[in-house]
Amino acid sequence: MSPVPSADTLLAWYDRHRRRLPWRAEPGQAADPYRVWLSEIMLQQTTVVAVLPYYETFLTRFPTVAALAAAPEGDVMAAWAGLGYYARARNLHACAKAVAASGGFPRTIDGLRALPGIGPYTASAVAAIAFGVPTVPVDGNVERVAARVACIAAPLPAAKPAIATAAAWLGDQPAAIARPSDFAQALFDLGATVCTPTSPACGVCPWFSSCAARLAGIAAELPRKAPKAVRPMRYGVHFWLTDAAGRVLLRRRPPRGLLGGMTEIPGTDWRALPWDEAAWTDHAPMKAAWRPVGEVRHGLTHFELRITVMAARVPVIVADGFLGAVEKLDAEALPTVMRKCVALASGER
Ligand code: ADE
Repeated sequence: MSPVPSADTLLAWYDRHRRRLPWRAEPGQAADPYRVWLSEIMLQQTTVVAVLPYYETFLTRFPTVAALAAAPEGDVMAAWAGLGYYARARNLHACAKAVAASGGFPRTIDGLRALPGIGPYTASAVAAIAFGVPTVPVDGNVERVAARVACIAAPLPAAKPAIATAAAWLGDQPAAIARPSDFAQALFDLGATVCTPTSPACGVCPWFSSCAARLAGIAAELPRKAPKAVRPMRYGVHFWLTDAAGRVLLRRRPPRGLLGGMTEIPGTDWRALPWDEAAWTDHAPMKAAWRPVGEVRHGLTHFELRITVMAARVPVIVADGFLGAVEKLDAEALPTVMRKCVALASGER
């Protein structure tokens, strides 16, 4: 039997190697629940590197939960644009309103769990990091570390309950219970910097001698994953229509549903069958000399998209939607797929 991975050992490693991140309190300082909650929502489904540039900008724009609650939804969506999964931005705003109305964040897992957009992981992460509740939040990094140290060889998602049990077992030690915030973030950092997905740096790992998967020689193979279903392909055509004053035709997507409330350049629906010219002409916002500018490829949660971008310039635009200045599109709530279309059509690449 290998020794139990010691919380003391991990925390000593963390004290030397912790990453400095903008939402992280310095040692001995109290964490700000708003900053912690915001970071956890932004970090869902993405990486620290992807979040960093958005995080500071967002905080400058909305420095407190009250400021975020009071902001118009369009402003929040625009500040979020580019991070993807836009239902999260709407939930974020709803959550801010609930928190501002009740005078602060609840300090328990159950209280946090009841707020919009807060699932079991986020409730546990905010409780541990902001309020020192002894719990181990299981994100992708923690899942990997736990699967390896406990050598859980069954594939995900079936292995999830066993991995959750292993994570709770790691946290059930006096040193972890005394420092829940640091213990959770130590696991995040270990997963992100040492116990990485494809080539873990076991030689520098504080749990080198207690990791059951390393001892079995299969650390890099865990956690195993059941084969993924292939995402279906959808096709659309979108129209970059500009006028003599350098403005472009935009429209707002319906408030609910996929990319709800976000801005787009007009287009067809996204269907399983590619569009030929006879089919898309009816969907163009105006009759014009449309020329193809290229194709945008983008992956959404449930399907892959191929968008053909057509462009035309007319003296005056007469069509449903609204006009935006081409050089001010950064301020619009354009989802990433539309940013790609804009970049292609406006020649930036
Ligand atoms: N991933 C999720 N939450 C995190 C945090 N607080 N620090 C680093 N990575 C994280």
